[in-house]
Amino acid sequence: MKIKNLHLAPPLLLAPMAGLTHSALRTLLLQFGGVGLLSTEMLAARKLPVENKHISPFLVRTEQERPLSYQLLVGAAEDVAPALEALHRLQADAVDINLGCPAPKVRRSGGGSSLMDTPELVREIIAIARKRTALPLTAKIRLGESFSEQRLQSFCQMLEGEGIDLLTVHARLRKEAFCRKPHWEWVAKVKEWVDIPVIANGSIFSVADAKKCLQISNADGLMIGRGAASTPWLFADIAREVYGFDIPKVRICLPVVYADFVTALVQRFVPERRLGRLKEFTHYFAENYFFGHRLACDVQGADSVEQAWQRAYAFFQRNDAEGVAEGEESLAEVIV
Ligand SMILES: Cc1cc2nc3c(=O)[nH]c(=O)nc-3n(C[C@H](O)[C@H](O)[C@H](O)COP(=O)(O)O)c2cc1C
Repeated sequence: MKIKNLHLAPPLLLAPMAGLTHSALRTLLLQFGGVGLLSTEMLAARKLPVENKHISPFLVRTEQERPLSYQLLVGAAEDVAPALEALHRLQADAVDINLGCPAPKVRRSGGGSSLMDTPELVREIIAIARKRTALPLTAKIRLGESFSEQRLQSFCQMLEGEGIDLLTVHARLRKEAFCRKPHWEWVAKVKEWVDIPVIANGSIFSVADAKKCLQISNADGLMIGRGAASTPWLFADIAREVYGFDIPKVRICLPVVYADFVTALVQRFVPERRLGRLKEFTHYFAENYFFGHRLACDVQGADSVEQAWQRAYAFFQRNDAEGVAEGEESLAEVIV
């Protein structure tokens, strides 16, 4: 898939996720491969121009993390141009506009899914953005407040008309929790309404989910969020098994994957920015274990990354002796 001059090969996108989609997770994903477009978490457009890229935990990155899309949380049209100038300085490869976040705090700021209630403001925001950047410009939406084909259709077509290059649809209504089944069939409707590439998002945790979602949605590609943290090798598996990419299947040693994440966190972030991110990641990664809630609880209660790692290591010794034995050498080298 190509948007402007950016090749997304394979058409598998990392979802923006606050507290999760940062340099350490992106680095871990790159070890396995298969991600066509990396992402930041949502970045407040108003604050972006004054953020220091060397200090801000939201902006810290390495040269290897490419191509990288930056997601903007915009609440006012006047914030768009300065934010885009900042993104050009940061050498963004693509810009995504957050039109789907349902978090009350985000909605109160006038951004995220609240923007779907004010299509004229969205039109203005996208028109300014289109004028101010030649980068691939994408948007991420939910299905809306309630099922309304007419509303959703005119919203998506407005986005396309204003110059959006690719549209990601998180196939849930605004108030639908993650435990609800996503409506992939609604992505198929969006696909019929617009000519730009449409990406399906929501509850893709396995190769089987990916196949089923593509079959139902007829989407041009997939975006994966929580599955990136629980199963960082998922992109590689889907790239190989669905898109025929030549990515060798590697044996996964869970303690080593976790250790690599801890090391990347420590390398990228100052000490006070590490622990919260480790807890967030562990919440999802723990799902790989039958007694994973124990791992998540142990790490949740830790006061430092060092303590969290010791507790995680003790958990691995109790629940994954084979993994610990297999990863002995790498586990001894963890930087904490
Ligand atoms: C912890 C967390 C943080 C999120 N933060 C963002 C965000 O910053 N921007 C955004 O557009 N969506 C955000 N989302 C939604 C995801 O991008 C994605 O749409 C959602 O998780 C569904 O995909 P999944 O089922 O693959 O996780 C977030 C989701 C989670 C779980």
